[in-house]
Amino acid sequence: MAQNHTDMCENLIIFNARIVTPLGVSACKGKGMSKLSIIENGTVEVTKGIITYVGKNRGESRDGFYHHYWHYNARGHCLLPGFVDSHTHFVFGGERAEEFSWRLQGESYMSIMEKGGGIASTVKATRELNFIKMRSNAEAFLKKMSAMGVTTVEGKSGYGLDRDTELLQLKVMRSLNNEDKKRIDVVPTFLGAHAVPEEYKGRTDDYVDFLIQTMLPHIRQNELAEFCDVFCEKGVFSIEQSRRLLLAAKECGFRLKLHADEIVPLGGAELAAELGAQSADHLLHASDNGIRAMADRDVVATLLPLTAFALKEPYARGREMIDAGCAVALATDLNPGSCFSGSIPLTFALACIYMRLTIEEAITALTLNGAAALNRADSIGSIELGKKGDFVVLNSPDYHVLPYYIGMNSVIMTIKEGALFPVS
Ligand code: NIG
Ligand code: FE
Repeated sequence: MAQNHTDMCENLIIFNARIVTPLGVSACKGKGMSKLSIIENGTVEVTKGIITYVGKNRGESRDGFYHHYWHYNARGHCLLPGFVDSHTHFVFGGERAEEFSWRLQGESYMSIMEKGGGIASTVKATRELNFIKMRSNAEAFLKKMSAMGVTTVEGKSGYGLDRDTELLQLKVMRSLNNEDKKRIDVVPTFLGAHAVPEEYKGRTDDYVDFLIQTMLPHIRQNELAEFCDVFCEKGVFSIEQSRRLLLAAKECGFRLKLHADEIVPLGGAELAAELGAQSADHLLHASDNGIRAMADRDVVATLLPLTAFALKEPYARGREMIDAGCAVALATDLNPGSCFSGSIPLTFALACIYMRLTIEEAITALTLNGAAALNRADSIGSIELGKKGDFVVLNSPDYHVLPYYIGMNSVIMTIKEGALFPVS
């Protein structure tokens, strides 16, 4: 018999659930994205945080049966894998509401950045934070994400752009991930190449040298990040500079991600394929060749509809990417500039309405393919034996509520490794 609350929570039996899940231990590509397994009157057993049974009800509600387990009666509601938000920037200081108001008056995201605002203004505010303040700001976002069903989130550095603040952002993420009874797993990404800091103005290549020589080896040795990312964009880091940084990162043992083809079609998708990146993200302006190359080289195409919405830019061509055989993931891109939203419900709605994903594809994109974008498709992202007991329970037996509830939450319970977190 389990002795304390934590042990108890890790043993859970969920019954009377409508279990809806993609299947597999790798990304679903193309047509495969629309295939979901559905079990009516289903049971899931979680033992010490890991799924140990999935199938039809076996009379679990009987008294005395499973007395080592917490019981949760899903009352016929949908049970899905926990959502994986595989692209966010949730660790930062300050907000940029004023900049948002300039954009409403017609200023563009890049012109604000060129004038020294944008990312640079968040860098200034982030450098002023100490560990405790930075951590408590970030923790508040995790609570909000958990209430929308997120059980794993990726977070990027990139608002320090100097040694100490970049490391502080990564240490905040490590500390949140090491927390006892956490609601969300945090996967850290090093995004030192998010912008060129003031100190290196006009010397982008020197800054790339600094990242390669000083930051990458230190971060890997201390296991502070799994992924290395770069804002590969006209006027930020060129294709050549991005390639140089990412090759060095790969050599050091990082997996690779790119902010690719977000503002102009630069060839970021092609570069991601050439380097065997785990994912290429944004892709609003990805070329046909880039899309084909991502499909061929198994690069997850991570689409961020909230950012296109907030910047009033055309949406990435999600439908075409899936039809071309890509594995598409969806994520929020929560950050203080281009997209101050971590809304999972709105992500579902925009992806289905404007990127023309089916609801089934959008579910795969926010679960198994999000997990694949984080190299974790073997342990999360679907409801299968041996994976983590991470789930969401919807307020309905019908999973179509996910995009239908536009910007409104349909999640009533988030379950993290067998621990229940009711959504109030
Ligand atoms: O993913 N494009 C670069 N990075 C972020 C925005 C960061 C910011 O504006 O603070 C993005 O859109
Ligand atoms: Fe981003």
